[in-house]
Amino acid sequence: MKIAIILGTRPEIIKMSPIIRECEKLGVDRYILHTGQHYSFEMDRVFFEDLKLALPEYNLDVGSGSHGEQTGKMLAEIEGILLKDMPDIVLIQGDTNTVLAGALAASKLHIRVGHVEAGLRSFDRSMPEEINRIVADHVSDYLFAPTENSKRHLLDEGIPENKICITGNTVVDAVYQNLEISKQTRHTLSKLDLEKGEYFLTTVHRAENTDKKDRLSSILIGFEQIYRKFRLPVVFPAHPRTVKMINKFRLKVPGGTKVIEPAGYLDFLQLEDGAKLILTDSGGLQEEACILGVPCITLRDNTERPETVDVGANIIAGVNGNIAHLAEKMTASETNWDNPYGIGNAAKLIINKILD
Ligand code: UD1
Ligand code: UDP
Repeated sequence: MKIAIILGTRPEIIKMSPIIRECEKLGVDRYILHTGQHYSFEMDRVFFEDLKLALPEYNLDVGSGSHGEQTGKMLAEIEGILLKDMPDIVLIQGDTNTVLAGALAASKLHIRVGHVEAGLRSFDRSMPEEINRIVADHVSDYLFAPTENSKRHLLDEGIPENKICITGNTVVDAVYQNLEISKQTRHTLSKLDLEKGEYFLTTVHRAENTDKKDRLSSILIGFEQIYRKFRLPVVFPAHPRTVKMINKFRLKVPGGTKVIEPAGYLDFLQLEDGAKLILTDSGGLQEEACILGVPCITLRDNTERPETVDVGANIIAGVNGNIAHLAEKMTASETNWDNPYGIGNAAKLIINKILD
């Protein structure tokens, strides 16, 4: 049994890491094919170092580009490698262009495809991720759905039940495997002069927010409102895309918002765990906030993670509402919700299913 693990971006490295560890534990033959969609040190290499992962056997260095250009390059190059290696199964995770290219390349070569984090739907096809999710799910042979809800979406689209397996989300494994290490080895808060529970944490990178001046500007205004109301810093490890667009639109980052470089996973877990509240348009952060018991405000008009809203951990705010008021409401509520994403054994369930 040979498994090809295809990944290319920050969240894929993090969420695939428990699967890579599980393969190592069981001595399963696997290799990593990195598309190079993310390539800056702080978006890529730092995660291999923090998570103590061996470097990928292949790196395609595809880099940034338009959707067609980026996906097309990946598709051609992944095909070449799969033809040479002919793994028994290809694993992909999530909803990026890397996932789309990996799923298409493998399925057309009649190599079985396992989609980790299958069945998520925002029902908003203007999001590139939604297109990637739908296509990947429909060409996959194994659909590893994190929750009952995601399984239901797949069934509703006519995917046979025997292809679907509910596993929880590997992000729980990643948080549980790394939080303690992070607490013991990092002093992130003191380095940044922050006190636990005395700051807000934010990330923004979604195309619909960064590429529209009015939305990006509204988000920054929201941070200003938060600072005015609470007099606590808003810590903003900014994705390179967001920095680029803030500069391009000549927007001013408000006082009280502290822009820093994107953090490695061990530092970032500390930042999340210690935050009073997380404001984000990230998928992974909505989940991690929920797992860590930190309230979250989602700076989008919808989410493919409704489980976090259902348990009371998250609220969908858009970008134009009264963010400070919502922050007041979320920080005043109970945080003892149940984690809907499983008990941290998703990687084990996925690898067992494949070996079966
Ligand atoms: C991609 C995924 C998104 C995922 C996110 C995780 C798609 C369509 N989007 O978005 O679903 O949530 O990754 O972070 O697959 N850049 C750098 N260095 C890097 C990578 C990117 O500077 O290492 C900059 C470049 O200016 C690039 C821009 O960020 O043009 C966008 O990168 P891209 O990979 O196209 O999309 P992300 O916004 O990162
Ligand atoms: N993350 C990180 N450092 C940061 C920002 C995010 O390690 O500065 C991690 C975060 O803990 C989560 C993942 O990156 O596991 C989320 O990635 P991102 O928000 O880029 O993508 P998405 O989840 O929206 O696809």
